[in-house]
Amino acid sequence: MTEPAVLFQREGRVAILTVNRPDKLNALNSQVGTETLAHLETIAADDDLGAVVVTGAGEKSFVAGADIGEFAGRAPFDQREAMRFPRVFDVMAGFPKPVIAMINGFCLGGGCELAMSCDIRLASEKARFGQPEINLGLIPGGGGTQRMPRLVGMGNAMKMILSGEMIGAEEALRIGLVDEVVAPDALRERTLALASSIAAKSPLTLRVAKEAMRASEQLPIEDGIRYERDLFCLCFSTEDKAEGVAAFLEKRKAAWKGR
Ligand code: COA
Repeated sequence: MTEPAVLFQREGRVAILTVNRPDKLNALNSQVGTETLAHLETIAADDDLGAVVVTGAGEKSFVAGADIGEFAGRAPFDQREAMRFPRVFDVMAGFPKPVIAMINGFCLGGGCELAMSCDIRLASEKARFGQPEINLGLIPGGGGTQRMPRLVGMGNAMKMILSGEMIGAEEALRIGLVDEVVAPDALRERTLALASSIAAKSPLTLRVAKEAMRASEQLPIEDGIRYERDLFCLCFSTEDKAEGVAAFLEKRKAAWKGR
């Protein structure tokens, strides 16, 4: 049997997906894409799982980009075909459960785009970030030119994508590319603590909250605010809203049903 390119573990209500090609710095090849999508389908359908953590195997790398070996000699339409199936990046951004990137090392090219598709990014102090495609005669192809300006502002995105230069974790935190930086040996514990605390909330409410925030990437502000208000009112139809409010008033912990 061939080694899985993506490992799937459960830790309580948290699913951990680990890109497992450490000798290639976890570069994303088509096997990683196919296996990730299959795992995500399983996780989406499993009510015992409330959040996903994505990381890379080994000490050195989160994901060092798309597998450059697969680009050599490829014709445009072959590349288009390879990118045709639902892209992991878009599936993660629209995934019905929160997805957290645990960035343990090199976070480059498609790896940085993968991290940007996640909902929250936690990074080790040793992590390094970049969009080095320009050095290959390429541009980012996994949403980087669109997601990066939204996350870090146009100037910072231009600097990273046009120069191809790498930045460290502190700089990534400063510009908003990551949300928290942790000592390398504390990264797993901190990420799992955050993921578990999120996964313990009402899955239904998490889904609606994520949907409302993702909509802000597409909608003009007035439409977005109207959409949020509609979703807020829709929450008044759920058992979890009745339970959450009752639990607060009765000074007890809420027991979520996901309904
Ligand atoms: N695609 C395919 N293989 C990759 C890879 C990628 N994106 N990134 C690293 N690897 C492979 C290397 O070819 C090497 O394989 P080998 O041992 O069979 O020769 C192995 O992973 C280890 O990488 P190496 O370059 O020896 O490590 P390093 O510490 O010297 O350098 C990097 C680390 C990240 C600076 C360097 O690997 C690199 O620049 N990678 C490409 C990053 C990139 O351009 N990503 C965007 C792709 S669109």
